[in-house]
Amino acid sequence: MKKIIISAILVFVAVLMVWGYRSIAAPGKYSLKAHNGISFSEIKGYETWQTVAVSRRTDNNELRVILANPTMIKAYKKGIPGNDKLFPDKSIIVKIAWSERQNADFPAAYEPDVLRRVEFIIKDSKRFPNTSGWGYARFVYDAKTSTFTPYGKDASFVQECYECHTTVKQKDFIFTNYPQR
Ligand code: HEC
Repeated sequence: MKKIIISAILVFVAVLMVWGYRSIAAPGKYSLKAHNGISFSEIKGYETWQTVAVSRRTDNNELRVILANPTMIKAYKKGIPGNDKLFPDKSIIVKIAWSERQNADFPAAYEPDVLRRVEFIIKDSKRFPNTSGWGYARFVYDAKTSTFTPYGKDASFVQECYECHTTVKQKDFIFTNYPQR
C-alpha cells in the first residue's frame, strides 16, 4: 500500500515537472506583444471566430482567411461599413495567411500549406487616436522553430499598415467585405 502511494506521488511530481518545464520552455504565442504594445492574447480564441471571407494573393502564392469577433460580425450584418456608419469599439478582425500548394489528389485545387503569419486590427477610438481608432498587430510565423515573432523593428511598423489601409478610408479602413453565403 505504502509503495503504491509513493509511486503515485512520484508520478504526480514527474507530471508537474514536465508541465512546469514546458510552460517555461515554450511560453507560447499568447505571451507575445507587438512593438506597439498590442498583445497576441487580445485575440485569444480567434481560431474559432467566424469567417468574414477568404482571399488570395497571386504575387506571393498566399491564401488567407479573414475572421472577425462577434462584435464585428454583428456590425457587418447590419451593413457596416457600406451604410456610412463606422465599426464600433471592440471590433476585431484577424487575417491568417499560409503559403499555398496544389492539392495532391486534385491539382486544380489549391490549399493552405505552411502558416506564414497572423495579424489583426482592433477598434478602440480612445486607445488608437492617431490611426483613426484602429490598432494594428502582426506576428510572423517561423515553421522551422514553430514560433511567432512580432513584426518590424519598433512601433513605427504601424505607419506601413495604416498608410495602405487608408486606401479604403471610406470603408472605415477595412478592405474585406462580407460576401453572401
Ligand atoms: C500594401 C498594402 C497593405 C499593407 C502595408 C497592409 N495591409 Fe492589411 N490588407 C491589405 C489588403 C489589400 C487587405 C485585403 C484582404 C487581403 O488582401 O487578404 C488587407 C487586409 C487586412 C486585414 C483583414 C481586414 C481588412 O482590412 O480586410 C488585416 C487584419 C490586416 N490587413 C492587417 C494588417 C496589418 C497588421 C498590417 C501592418 C503590419 C497591414 N495589414 C498592412 C493591404 C495591406
